[in-house]
Amino acid sequence: MIEEYGLRGRVVIITGATGSIGSAIATEFYNQGAQVVLTGRRHDKLEKLSINLTAHQTKHQLTPLCVPLDLTATDADKTLVSAAIEKFDRLDIVINNAGDINGYMFLKTTPEILNHIMHLNFSVPYNICRTALPHMLRGKYGRIINITSIAGYFGDAGMSAYAASKGGLASATKSIATEYGRRNITANCIAPGIIDTPQIQKIPAERRKELRNLTPMHRFGKPEEVAHLAAFLASERAAFINGQQIHINGGIIR
Ligand SMILES: NC(=O)c1ccc[n+]([C@@H]2O[C@H](COP(=O)([O-])OP(=O)(O)OC[C@H]3O[C@@H](n4cnc5c(N)ncnc54)[C@H](OP(=O)(O)O)[C@@H]3O)[C@@H](O)[C@H]2O)c1
Repeated sequence: MIEEYGLRGRVVIITGATGSIGSAIATEFYNQGAQVVLTGRRHDKLEKLSINLTAHQTKHQLTPLCVPLDLTATDADKTLVSAAIEKFDRLDIVINNAGDINGYMFLKTTPEILNHIMHLNFSVPYNICRTALPHMLRGKYGRIINITSIAGYFGDAGMSAYAASKGGLASATKSIATEYGRRNITANCIAPGIIDTPQIQKIPAERRKELRNLTPMHRFGKPEEVAHLAAFLASERAAFINGQQIHINGGIIR
């Protein structure tokens, strides 16, 4: 593994680290020598990820900090950021990746579903950004990376609540970028297209084929490809990229 992004020593919070894309991001940052703070609700998955990371890395002996947490709980943003600060006394990078990717047809989207999706996919990352920012200001360096979605950009059938949550997050991220860019804090989004995850593998084969063919590259993305982009955006090399939503979708331009 080449540490190509200069992330050694950076402290990074990664939400949704127990998921497909989140665990790839955690692996990439850990291998780059960053001090990873990992969260998700599933304790056992977090522990397993942490053990796997340390077992496969001989170059450095960093121990991931695991913070099992339901991010929709009251003050979860504060609990998470405080855990990172208490342990490392700094926070350089936040990757808001946790999300509920379930879709519902518009007329089936009850107020409860809407509230849940907006809470987890929009308010949670928003609040984490707000709680993390003062620490980035103190460190004179910050990288906020919010994982949005192609659906938040184009909209999609059966995805009205999800699309709204991700579209809203993209807009909020741009606003943060314009407020804090001059303080060496960048805020960007990564909007994945269809990424090959267990959720996608559950789709019937025929439909999967159709979806693959909708992508000009005729394949799904890999979680690791999203992770590479996140590492680049988190690095000094991406210092002038701010307020952008970077699409990683194999060429869908619709
Ligand atoms: N997969 C795709 O094709 C795709 C495409 C576009 C965008 N995205 C976006 O990419 C991100 C990751 O997606 P994924 O495919 O990797 O999904 P995933 O495997 O289902 O992972 C979702 C993650 O969110 C965490 N999470 C869910 N509810 C939570 C809660 N209440 N509190 C704390 N953590 C919670 C889960 O952890 P626990 O279950 O342990 O709590 C899990 O780690 C999402 O934001 C998604 O919208 C994915």
